[in-house]
Amino acid sequence: MDPDLMADPFGGYGRLREQAPVVHGRYLDGTPAWFVTRHDDVRALLHDRRLVNTPASVPGATDDDPRLKMMDMLAIPEELRPYLMGSMLDTDPPEHTRLRKRVLREFTARRVMGMRPRIEEIAGRLLDALPRHTADGAADLLAHYAYPLSIQVICNLVGVPEADSDKWQQWGEDLIAMRPERLATSFPAMIEHTHRLIGERRADLGDDLLSGLIRGQDSSEGGISDVELVTFVVTLVLAGHETTAHLISNGTAALLSHPGQLAQLRSDPEIMPGAVHELMRWCGPVQTGRLRYAAEDMEVAGTRIPRGDAVLLVFVSANFDPRRYTDPDRLDLRRHPVGQAENHLGFGHGIHYCLGASLARLEAEIAFGSLFDRYPDLRLALEPAELERRERMRLPGQWRLTRLPV
Ligand code: HEM
Repeated sequence: MDPDLMADPFGGYGRLREQAPVVHGRYLDGTPAWFVTRHDDVRALLHDRRLVNTPASVPGATDDDPRLKMMDMLAIPEELRPYLMGSMLDTDPPEHTRLRKRVLREFTARRVMGMRPRIEEIAGRLLDALPRHTADGAADLLAHYAYPLSIQVICNLVGVPEADSDKWQQWGEDLIAMRPERLATSFPAMIEHTHRLIGERRADLGDDLLSGLIRGQDSSEGGISDVELVTFVVTLVLAGHETTAHLISNGTAALLSHPGQLAQLRSDPEIMPGAVHELMRWCGPVQTGRLRYAAEDMEVAGTRIPRGDAVLLVFVSANFDPRRYTDPDRLDLRRHPVGQAENHLGFGHGIHYCLGASLARLEAEIAFGSLFDRYPDLRLALEPAELERRERMRLPGQWRLTRLPV
């Protein structure tokens, strides 16, 4: 949140990588934390079991959990805290393994890939309607394409009524903005709504992901509670739309401001999967991992990190590390040859690797393809440098535009 770093994050991260690749600073809520900025260190730490996601997993931990401080700050009532603290990202093995396995049984590659026709249909419908949303000759692609596309897709996949998508979008925004006065009503409303939805679905099971999770819950293996089920739904819907919307809008802005690259993509659509890897590297929406904690004393790049200290892995810095990428500042859609696995850290890595990465990539591929097929002469309505970023987001480390006028 340092204003100088925010004004020039890439220059700032570059200086940190060179001069202080592990540096002590403060997280947004004041928690002291070590910031790690080099690619190899970030990647290695994502696989290092000595780093844990819950302070309680640190041997000899006190009850002083910074997440509770955050809950106090946000005025989240006691009885609703388990819904925020029990998400996969907030747990460590064996708890994490149990939850992730359970959801992966439903969140299958087949189910995700089976979404293609539905995603194409939603994208087509939104693009047809786009001219209706032009004000002053410009349409806002973030509000009228990227957001509705990603929220409707995730609602479809999970089995949440599409008619509720506006509500979910608002709840997501309230959570991200972290404004206690908004959360006081919207958080309990979201939890209550989800409990009701699960009750209704239990009485009328279908073949959606939610029905699958409920069936699993009722089967002999069981193993997930109602609170966990609600947390799954909330996590999937919220984690699944906001980030993807910003990948689509950041990626579109990047393509429109690099006409040579866009021309290559249009003339050779085969490169699309690699192009999406590169757009994730170059302008992925998530800047850092969640806070992690050293479960024992560690040494990283010559710096000692004492047991119990918090660690923040700076993914965007890792993605621009010249030790890893030649000419990292250059957007190069052919950097990741067809068939090559992604090599950026925008979806994280290791046991907490983004559960929805394949869905997000599929949505982005379809979103870019459909958009430029339908509107081949699309242009930004302002200079790239004039695009406004959400700089003072309360949630740290997110990399988002406020709107994308085209
Ligand atoms: C985890 C980014 C889309 C669900 C993560 C992590 C990152 C990330 C960086 C790991 C964080 C860490 O280790 O600290 C993104 C980006 C997306 C995206 C950039 C879009 C462009 C999605 C979608 C879904 C999803 C579509 C769901 C359908 C999750 C879940 C986790 C996660 C459940 C936690 C996994 C675990 O702890 O095991 N995501 N994500 N994400 N993501 Fe995503």
